[in-house]
Amino acid sequence: MEAAQSLPPWRPLLSAARKREGRSPGGRWLQLATLAMDGCPRVRTLVFRDWSASATLDLLTDARSDKTLEIQRTPEVELCWLFRKAREQFRLRGTARLIAPGQDPVVLDQSWRQLSPSGRSVWAWPPPGDPFDVQGPWPQEVSDDSAMPEHLRLLRIALHQVEQLDLKPHPHLRRVWTSATEWQEQRLNP
Ligand SMILES: Cc1cc2nc3c(=O)[nH]c(=O)nc-3n(C[C@H](O)[C@H](O)[C@H](O)COP(=O)(O)O)c2cc1C
Repeated sequence: MEAAQSLPPWRPLLSAARKREGRSPGGRWLQLATLAMDGCPRVRTLVFRDWSASATLDLLTDARSDKTLEIQRTPEVELCWLFRKAREQFRLRGTARLIAPGQDPVVLDQSWRQLSPSGRSVWAWPPPGDPFDVQGPWPQEVSDDSAMPEHLRLLRIALHQVEQLDLKPHPHLRRVWTSATEWQEQRLNP
């Protein structure tokens, strides 16, 4: 749950853009870019879970996936969040931290319970990225009362730069905020 503190100026803008997506699940999908071991970028889609502080967001992932190793080595990440209806893009830079069930059992358990039975199922599957295992198991659902898997990870990203690009006005509106300047807004050429 988010602490009561004043919100950075970009938070209401992001919320407004999210609201325009309505109930569409795509409104919670964002792309996470990491630096891989070979020095090249990797990008993939994750589901936004919640804000844990005014400029810190939470995602969930699997300790067995490549991204966890990449983040352990290079915690600096970038997220790209596209809001189609608002025609807005937010690029968010931050420092990621992986939290294991043993480090914060209460928060991890809460995240696990909040997932739907089908949402939970992927953590019961064989290790992601391994050659396909026909034996599985490949459950479609994991019940509410099932134990939280040891490889569940909360991916907590403390943001230090946010950039918005809004294609609605002419010329397009592009602005950036950084935590180093108390989130002071700077307008940029689009
Ligand atoms: C719509 C969508 C939502 C996804 N949500 C998540 C998620 O919340 N957490 C996650 O770890 N992977 C999620 N994935 C899977 C990742 O995109 C990725 O394939 C997987 O995590 C393996 O990534 P890696 O090999 O780069 O670590 C999602 C994929 C899609 C298409």
